[in-house]
Amino acid sequence: MVYFFFFFFSIILEKMEMGSSSSLKTCFILLFFCLLNVFTISSKPLSKESVLFGGNFPALYVIGDSLVDSGNNNHLDTLAKSNFPPYGSDFEGGKSTGRFGNGKTIADYIAIYYELPLVPAYMGLSEEQKNNISTGINYASASCGILPDTGKIVGECLSLSVQVDLFKETIDKNLKKKFKPQPELSKHLADSLFMTAIGVNDYSFFYNKTMDANDFANKLIHEFFIQIQRLHGLGVRKFFVNNLKPLGCYPNIIAHTVPHGSCDNDLNLAVSIYNAKLRRSLTHMKQKLSNTSFLYSDYFNFMLGLRGPSSNHASSNLLNTTSPCCPSIYDGGALTGCSANSSSCAMPDTHIFFDPFHPTQLANFRREKFAMW
Ligand SMILES: *[C@@H]1O[C@H](CO)[C@@H](O)[C@H](O)[C@H]1NC(C)=O
Ligand SMILES: *[C@@H]1O[C@H](CO)[C@@H](O)[C@H](O)[C@H]1NC(C)=O
Ligand SMILES: *[C@@H]1O[C@H](CO)[C@@H](O)[C@H](O)[C@H]1NC(C)=O
Ligand SMILES: *[C@@H]1O[C@H](CO)[C@@H](O)[C@H](O)[C@H]1NC(C)=O
Ligand SMILES: *[C@@H]1O[C@H](CO)[C@@H](O)[C@H](O)[C@H]1NC(C)=O
Repeated sequence: MVYFFFFFFSIILEKMEMGSSSSLKTCFILLFFCLLNVFTISSKPLSKESVLFGGNFPALYVIGDSLVDSGNNNHLDTLAKSNFPPYGSDFEGGKSTGRFGNGKTIADYIAIYYELPLVPAYMGLSEEQKNNISTGINYASASCGILPDTGKIVGECLSLSVQVDLFKETIDKNLKKKFKPQPELSKHLADSLFMTAIGVNDYSFFYNKTMDANDFANKLIHEFFIQIQRLHGLGVRKFFVNNLKPLGCYPNIIAHTVPHGSCDNDLNLAVSIYNAKLRRSLTHMKQKLSNTSFLYSDYFNFMLGLRGPSSNHASSNLLNTTSPCCPSIYDGGALTGCSANSSSCAMPDTHIFFDPFHPTQLANFRREKFAMW
């Protein structure tokens, strides 16, 4: 097992010197200075960066929930949508694409890092586009989770197993035409990076404190790895697995805690039990599945770090770590979210939460510890 740090700052600074588009450059420079103030990190770039699995991926495929949905729910009959302002206020000049935040998702940042196009939502692609795309497709769907019924109370969504079904359909209907003969297809699938970010909605919709947190996590882990093995069977060999966020510190939860604004530690503990099992299971899977690499990305601790040690006040004078940007006055009501009519803050990236359930792009732009198997 190898541990290493992955520094977006130094990576991106280095890439800029090599010449990227000027608008991208401006965006990164702004983000860089914004974060620089927050973290007061050393401005000295590292001389050598770790490159995940050697880098150079032909494609990025994405499975997940609203953390990485890039527009699939726009095409589904559901309340879990974000294809209207103020969502996307910082995305490519202010486009509401169906991403649940003001800007880029973690999947977008990974695509940029590997010099791949931002990954388009499967549901928005024509058959012709599906046949043409060889740089990856995003199947992620807001409100859904690992269990088949998770999130269905707010409308249609693509659960984990359905997302894998759609990926299989992509292979059978589209990629097989593009990559001929068969060894070409196998090579494409084995070389591509496959990102997962799913499971927290299972906690949001189905977990409660009367349950045994171990049993609940085991059930999810069991279902999750059934799908990982299916993906392996389809030819996927490189997995980028995000753990679950610290749900207990999100605005919709801390609106109801005592003292007001403190994290729900029981809920965080339940989620971290899942995360620990996930991590251990990757070690087992590595042994069980041939020729497979896993990267475990610790979003949980990254987000906790952004929040900082204090519970009710921002950990720096710049970041608001407790209130969402939208709605700007949030009462924690079960039906209160960020709607087209909500007032929102002027500078989303002074908050770590864009709406009561989702991070801003600032919190998606990560500097964190990964473990790789
Ligand atoms: C097919 O993909 C290429 C390269 O990604 C792109 O330039 C072209 O416009 C696409 N064609 C269609 C019909 O989508
Ligand atoms: C917790 O979940 C169980 C199983 O779904 C359910 O029977 C019970 O009513 C729930 N308890 C609370 C307090 O929501
Ligand atoms: C393992 O993966 C590498 C890189 O994708 C490939 O070249 C090699 O043939 C694979 N080995 C086996 C045993 O599948
Ligand atoms: C965070 O933002 C909310 C809403 O704008 C505001 O009421 C609150 O005081 C801010 N908290 C901190 C610690 O800045
Ligand atoms: C926004 O406000 C208008 C006018 O008050 C109302 O008709 C509409 O339903 C509201 N939309 C949402 C999403 O709340």
